[in-house]
Amino acid sequence: MNTNPVANRVIEKCGSTNDLARTLGEANHPHGTWISARLQEKGRGRLGREWCSMEGNLFLSMVIRLEKTELWSWIPLAAAVGVARSLRKEFQAIDVRIKWPNDLWLEGAKLGGILCESVGGRKGSFILVGLGLNCATAPDDLDQKTASLTGELSSPAGPIHADRVRLKIIESWLHVFGELSQQGSEFIATEYERLAVLRPGVEIEWGSEATSTQGVGGTGTVLGLGERGELCVRLKQGGETHLFAEDVKLRRISASPEATCESPL
Ligand code: BTN
Repeated sequence: MNTNPVANRVIEKCGSTNDLARTLGEANHPHGTWISARLQEKGRGRLGREWCSMEGNLFLSMVIRLEKTELWSWIPLAAAVGVARSLRKEFQAIDVRIKWPNDLWLEGAKLGGILCESVGGRKGSFILVGLGLNCATAPDDLDQKTASLTGELSSPAGPIHADRVRLKIIESWLHVFGELSQQGSEFIATEYERLAVLRPGVEIEWGSEATSTQGVGGTGTVLGLGERGELCVRLKQGGETHLFAEDVKLRRISASPEATCESPL
């Protein structure tokens, strides 16, 4: 029996769409190949967490092939930019933002998350980008506030379902990854900073179990993005550190300067 997933399809159920996308990538499917499921039974989140996958929400993974490996560290940020741009265009009434490194945020609550995984093999290396987006339902989470598109936008047509946004997000991802590959990181950096919650001047705290370049947690003030897409922070006790997408856990955001998105998408 052929159990290989079919590329560029929405399927009913799977363990994790990132696992199916990995199978597609390993079978040499090209850049931009995607797979989505209506339900996931073993959804994974960042830092080894589970991703609670509820019906009506979006679970989508894409194979990203980018020749310039020096741009790979920008992929998680580009993925978040693609989703935020797409949602802001579709639902102009809501202020979707990006919380470091690539959470989708709505009014201080988590609307979605992105898990990027790199795969290296004999047939070439690629990155999997997996998005979980709370369209219909916001799962309960003890650690943080959660939001859903349906909860935020009262729609007379009923709940907002994953089907409404899936293709638009795929299109937006193809656009931002195309820009990254052709123009380099500048476009992504500019867009990210425009949409970011953690702007220069914001005070942050990160956990001691997460490692930074200095190997410990700490507190400091955001300076901005570094040349690899890392978050540059001025430490409270003096000096600077650079935090990387894969190993940072933020605990607190305070003294957030008033931030508005000036340019409409
Ligand atoms: C996070 O922890 O914020 C990232 C969550 C990423 C979840 C998505 S759902 C689609 C894809 N498949 C998975 O198993 N995880 C990602």
